Amino acid sequence: MPSLKLDTRELAEQYDVISDKQFEHGKLLLADLRVTSGLRVLDVGCGTGRLGEYAASELVGEQHGEVVGVEPLALRVDIARQRVLTNRTANHHVHIGRAENLSQFEDASFDIVYLNSVYHWLADKRPVLAEAFRVLKPTGRLGISVASKDRPHDIQRVLQDVLVEHALYRDATGATPHRVGFSELGSQLEGAGFLIDQIILRSFADVFPNAEAVLDFNSASSFGNYLTDYTPDTRERVLASLRQRFTALQTAEGIVACRHLLFAVASKPVAGKPA
Ligand SMILES: C[S@@+](CC[C@H](N)C(=O)[O-])C[C@H]1O[C@@H](n2cnc3c(N)ncnc32)[C@H](O)[C@@H]1O
Repeated sequence: MPSLKLDTRELAEQYDVISDKQFEHGKLLLADLRVTSGLRVLDVGCGTGRLGEYAASELVGEQHGEVVGVEPLALRVDIARQRVLTNRTANHHVHIGRAENLSQFEDASFDIVYLNSVYHWLADKRPVLAEAFRVLKPTGRLGISVASKDRPHDIQRVLQDVLVEHALYRDATGATPHRVGFSELGSQLEGAGFLIDQIILRSFADVFPNAEAVLDFNSASSFGNYLTDYTPDTRERVLASLRQRFTALQTAEGIVACRHLLFAVASKPVAGKPA
């Protein structure tokens, strides 16, 4: 279970700078969701607010549309709120909160709810989907982008090899500890009462300039959870092996690693939860 107490200002600031990949995946998710002018949107696990800012300023319109971000890490909320102030995005608001408990929001109050690169951090999906269902208006849409359990990232595979090399438990925390499979995600959505519009797998070739950039990306994206369930000595040994393995993958273009994500869009039925 990832901890929400390990984030630091440095990791939060670093995430804001290195999260282009999540930002680009998020833009695809918002396109899948057909986010258009006038909609009220909830960005769950909004991080430092980059995607929410994009949706607020480019998609929903200042007149009638609004984007509300909710995020448990105070340091990331600070950065998101600073972004709102700097850019004067009057229709973007950010609050502290968790996906499992959206009680600060009324029933049927959003047209769109999305979780971009967040779902694989959540151990218990049931309350998350129940809350998304509750706050969505009938016919409102839920969007999820999530790491695929069936097709792990290349980076995750390298990590698992290194853990085995060090005789460590295979599934120890690296990144994205609660990935889901294609049919698992479908069952979860249907079990929560949603009608599935689409679930698709998209693959991306990530390019990192060097081994250190791969490790920085994972640390900042994991808000302090990257291999921190090991003793400092073991963690250092694992990190040294990872550096070595990633350096061996260096090419003139950088280190290329494939990432496979599921993108789901589901709707809340007009007549509430089906039997
Ligand atoms: C990889 S970041 C993605 C941030 C943002 N959605 C984006 O697209 O850049 C994962 C985020 O999930 C958030 N998160 C972790 N546990 C959460 C929970 N229980 N409820 C809501 N957000 C959570 C983290 O705090 C972190 O900001």
